[in-house]
Amino acid sequence: MTYVSLELVAADVAKAVQRRDIVIVVDVLRASSTIVTALACGAQAVMPLRRVEEARRMKRTNPEYLLAGERRGLRPRGFDLGNSPLEYTSSRVGNKRILLTTSSGTQTLAVAREAPTTLVGSFLNITAIANRARELSREMACGITVALSGKLGEFSLEDFLCGGALVSKLRKEKDGCSDAAYAAYLSYRSIERRLLETILMGNHAKELVDLGLSEDVRFCCVLDKYDLVPVLELGWIVSYGTV
Ligand code: MLT
Repeated sequence: MTYVSLELVAADVAKAVQRRDIVIVVDVLRASSTIVTALACGAQAVMPLRRVEEARRMKRTNPEYLLAGERRGLRPRGFDLGNSPLEYTSSRVGNKRILLTTSSGTQTLAVAREAPTTLVGSFLNITAIANRARELSREMACGITVALSGKLGEFSLEDFLCGGALVSKLRKEKDGCSDAAYAAYLSYRSIERRLLETILMGNHAKELVDLGLSEDVRFCCVLDKYDLVPVLELGWIVSYGTV
């Protein structure tokens, strides 16, 4: 039976890597939602990077790549795109490679890349990602860990609830779940009909609303908009099936 774990903060993701679990990285607001949207709109691949300077350096040697991301929620100077999924339209990202650096999501991906398989999950692709993780865990006879990015090392409500939504697709009972995974499942089940309004109560959503980005929060709370499985391969995130 596949064992489902959930790591509440990015610093704990290394434990999942040591267990050789499949890792699903979740950063609902907004890195994982942005990555899923970019690939759904035809981007060839997204490279997650930790530092702004590193991303700028890669752009200098590869001027055809798009430079994207955020610090304090906003697009850094000279970047082509910020971290709003709504900016990632087919006309802007179709057929492009994207260098993405964000405060938390791409930091979690940097740790999770050591896992045997690293997937990117969000509400936007929740069913596709759960189904693929289940298939892989059977093929590879290993567990699944949902890795919550949180915000700057802190727990965040929206990632916890998305983790719970993933667990609800993988397991219906406590058997085969860590306590954290089961707690996330119970929380999600108790608010699933009020998902957006619950997420809007979280600190990260409030910060985005204060920046005038409430449409981003609304968009990131849509379930199953895309039937797409982003997977990290050799430093690039691509859509499963194009690997
Ligand atoms: C992050 O990686 O910290 C987030 O995606 C921040 C954001 O842009 O809201």
